[in-house]
Amino acid sequence: MRTVRVKLGKRSYQARIGHDLLGQAGKWLRELVPAGEKAALITNPAVDNLYGVLLKQGLEKQGFKTATLLVPEGEEQKSLDTAAKLYAGLQAVHAERSTLILAMGGGVIGDLAGFVAATYMRGLPLVLLPTTLLAQVDSSLGGKTAVDHGPVKNNIGVFHQPLLVIADTFTLRSLPQAEVSNGLAEVIKYGMICDSAFFNLLEKNMQKIRAFEDPLLEEIVARSAAIKAGIVAKDERDSGLRNILNFGHTIGHAVESASNFKIRHGQAVATGMVKASAIACRLGIFPHHQLERLKNLLLQAGLPVTMPQVEMSRVIKAMEYDKKVQNGKIRFILPRSIGKAFISNDVSLALAVEVMEGADD
Ligand SMILES: NC(=O)c1ccc[n+]([C@@H]2O[C@H](COP(=O)([O-])OP(=O)(O)OC[C@H]3O[C@@H](n4cnc5c(N)ncnc54)[C@H](O)[C@@H]3O)[C@@H](O)[C@H]2O)c1
Repeated sequence: MRTVRVKLGKRSYQARIGHDLLGQAGKWLRELVPAGEKAALITNPAVDNLYGVLLKQGLEKQGFKTATLLVPEGEEQKSLDTAAKLYAGLQAVHAERSTLILAMGGGVIGDLAGFVAATYMRGLPLVLLPTTLLAQVDSSLGGKTAVDHGPVKNNIGVFHQPLLVIADTFTLRSLPQAEVSNGLAEVIKYGMICDSAFFNLLEKNMQKIRAFEDPLLEEIVARSAAIKAGIVAKDERDSGLRNILNFGHTIGHAVESASNFKIRHGQAVATGMVKASAIACRLGIFPHHQLERLKNLLLQAGLPVTMPQVEMSRVIKAMEYDKKVQNGKIRFILPRSIGKAFISNDVSLALAVEVMEGADD
């Protein structure tokens, strides 16, 4: 097992990452809340079927009374309606200020259950048990919780740091390959923005990672989580530096939104990283052979490297809505080399459109 510490003063916590950790969760939660009795597990039916019994057995052994609140699948559940159903569920089981909220699942469950934990009775203690690669390397770290509202993703939310994150890499084995690729986009992003040695490791081992080889998988998740934790520790509230995590997201978010979220986040970010890097190539600040390395790695990870069929006018509109465009310039995270990126407010919309429309990069 590896431990990553998210250093946020009084709100610091650990992410424990490794194989077969769910069975130990009960013991760790007992250490965390020596006198606590109640826990509410928020998850979805598929994840509950796979891992619910294992988790709950460990909790019961430690004297926790656990109620399970099930949420159907899908991003559309990240809503105030579903949050209200969960509030009613917590009332029905007489949740108290000390009741532990356990969120087991992907980023949808983590964001939704985190939001409910942050707001119910002005805040309940939260433990995240991420079971997708994306959630283990990204969404479980940093305390961002949210629900979507109308057409706007993550429109209503609050920062609420968990007490503990337990990322059991064994659970990744039941993920469909498309979900693994989705998470790998963020993993590759970490290499691109701040760790060239990590990028090299990914290049050498992508097939082994996709085959869930341990201890490699544990190392990849832990190193990714450590990069995210390091950035979050310097900018908890997302007021500057944390922006660097948006590499690939300027175009990525816009493509996702222009496709009415039919294109998965990871796929959109993969294209976004290629296009941001191609812009940096055009500006003469990023070498072309490194763009080729990025594309090769993304392809090995099962991710796209070209623009999907989306209307360019919708992509531009989405970037404008995101407040990324000002006076004809767009905020981009650009690479200088593999492992080094910076925030630029100076890319012209015209260049971005030219690169997005171009097939050459
Ligand atoms: N809070 C943050 O900082 C942050 C960061 C990035 C993304 N997000 C959010 O995360 C969400 C996306 O998360 P996601 O990619 O994990 O998608 P997801 O939560 O929808 O999970 C994807 C699918 O995998 C299934 N699943 C989960 N674990 C499984 C397992 N071990 N085996 C088999 N199936 C499993 C789920 O039931 C679901 O169908 C978005 O809502 C996004 O906004 C939040």
